[in-house]
Amino acid sequence: MHSAGSEQHPQPTRRGAVIWLTGLSGAGKSTLAATLAQCLNAQGHASYVLDGDALRTGLNADLGFSPADRHENIRRAGEVAALFADAGLICIAALISPYRADRAAARKACKTGFHEVHVSADLATCEARDPKGLYRRARAGELRGFTGIDAPYETPLHAELVIDTAGVVAEVSQQQLLRYVQEHVLHQALGQVLEQQSPQPAR
Ligand code: ADX
Repeated sequence: MHSAGSEQHPQPTRRGAVIWLTGLSGAGKSTLAATLAQCLNAQGHASYVLDGDALRTGLNADLGFSPADRHENIRRAGEVAALFADAGLICIAALISPYRADRAAARKACKTGFHEVHVSADLATCEARDPKGLYRRARAGELRGFTGIDAPYETPLHAELVIDTAGVVAEVSQQQLLRYVQEHVLHQALGQVLEQQSPQPAR
């Protein structure tokens, strides 16, 4: 039986977890992360988003985009994500994290419950979206070392989940992520949450 009022205040889940979204710039990581967090928090599962762009304005403001700086960027994000998970929260990290070794280190830092999600929109799709105009600048030679253009992205080999956001509406990708979290992180029904996110007439 549920106690009255427990829905009002987000509570930490019993076991925390890290959902690590990796993929090219423009693949949809930040949007997926924000929507998932909103959804989880609304249902009383405390969660927090660590977004690469946001981290780079504070904790990682001293870092650029060289391989060494990206390594340090992911190392710090991985350690912080592990702390959140240790505190019982679902931490959703959204960073390009282009190197397999760095992602593996983040997985190791988080003792349990690390879920690597490859947000796998291809380069042509991300470049066509170009929400911040960065691909255009990279192609024009104004930005050096841009992931996918003249810096590498090492595709995950063993991601727990692959979400290809190319050619599908955002809601489809969101549902895919929510269903995964329902089954593999919360181990409970999120039917209510899914309905709220995308109202569909019953079939
Ligand atoms: S990571 O490679 O170190 O994981 P992170 O996710 O923190 O990258 O930051 C990526 C964001 O930084 C991109 O979404 C983009 O807005 C911005 N950015 C600026 N310069 C670059 C670059 N050279 N390569 C990739 N992203 C860049």
